[in-house]
Amino acid sequence: MKILGYESSCDETGVAVVCTEKGLLAHGLHSQIAMHRAYGGVVPELASRDHIRRVLPLTEQVLADAGLSLNDIDAVAYTAGPGLNGALLVGASFACSLAWARGLPTIPVHHLEGHLLSPLLADPAPEFPFVALLVSGGHTQIMQVDGVGQYKLLGETLDDAAGEAFDKSAKLLGLPYPGGPALSKLAEKGDVNRLQLPRPMLHSGDFDFSFSGLKTAVLTALRKMEKEQSSVTEQDKADIAAATQAAIVDVLAIKSLRALKQSGLKRLVVAGGVGANRLLRTHLVSEAEKMGATVYFPPIDLCTDNGAMIAFAAAMRIKHGIQNVEHRASFTVQPRWDLEDVAR
Ligand code: KG4
Ligand code: ZN
Repeated sequence: MKILGYESSCDETGVAVVCTEKGLLAHGLHSQIAMHRAYGGVVPELASRDHIRRVLPLTEQVLADAGLSLNDIDAVAYTAGPGLNGALLVGASFACSLAWARGLPTIPVHHLEGHLLSPLLADPAPEFPFVALLVSGGHTQIMQVDGVGQYKLLGETLDDAAGEAFDKSAKLLGLPYPGGPALSKLAEKGDVNRLQLPRPMLHSGDFDFSFSGLKTAVLTALRKMEKEQSSVTEQDKADIAAATQAAIVDVLAIKSLRALKQSGLKRLVVAGGVGANRLLRTHLVSEAEKMGATVYFPPIDLCTDNGAMIAFAAAMRIKHGIQNVEHRASFTVQPRWDLEDVAR
């Protein structure tokens, strides 16, 4: 069965074809980063309008890359939430209109389930069960995943997400949107030992996080330098960036490895945009190795939002008998939606 999948929950238009037997056949992505950069963050209305512009040409490109036509497609999947309402509606209405016109079934997909299962697109892929650290711009969660559709929340952020902490701290340092990659690049030139930023909730005894205090710590460090020095140099900013990244990575790594230890499992999966962070990757791999555990990541180009993970999650749900292949007469999107709602 060949599934055409759509992602449009935020600022990436993603389209992909996944075969339930052969896996990913082709995928295409248009990132709106350059467009939103001028505003320092995602402008929802602009995001929706750009999804409208990109979705049809991207569909044609992906079908051509896969050597397929619409006649070969058996079902259409789309991100139904969580995300920006207008952006979600563009992908959902396009996917459902296409499906109705072709007499095909539709499959609504939870965006985070897409991220969570995306490491299975890598080679080697992790086997179930595993512990997953889900770190994106909007979410930070530790889940125990026993199988497709079997998700147990172990802990989550009480305020800002890890990606949000990267983005907000980067903004304070005058870096362009999206802040995560920009901050980690600047951090490479920084002295990680110059400043020590707080590691919130490290000893809370649970697997929850809190990152909202970090931006205040970054601002305080900046103000202190402004007061004590004649000017804040690029090196100063790099030192703050290095300290910020170290604080975020430390908390994420310590808590997810503790969760892994408590679960008794030996596989940790990292998914979501922050999973592209190089320090997080190397740190987790070396720390997990000491516990005799293995860390799995999605292919690096599938860490941030993409259509492949949505078509793939739909394929996995069908393959495991969780999702019925239905012809639906209506559709809806859910800007707020807990992942546990799609667990069985
Ligand atoms: O999963 P994603 O593409 O979108 C959401 O579903 O939110 O994640 C985007 C987030 C942004 O906050 C971005 O700054 C962060 O992932 N990110 C990174 C890196 N690449 C993307 N954060 C740290 N280091 C990176 N290399
Ligand atoms: Zn995402």
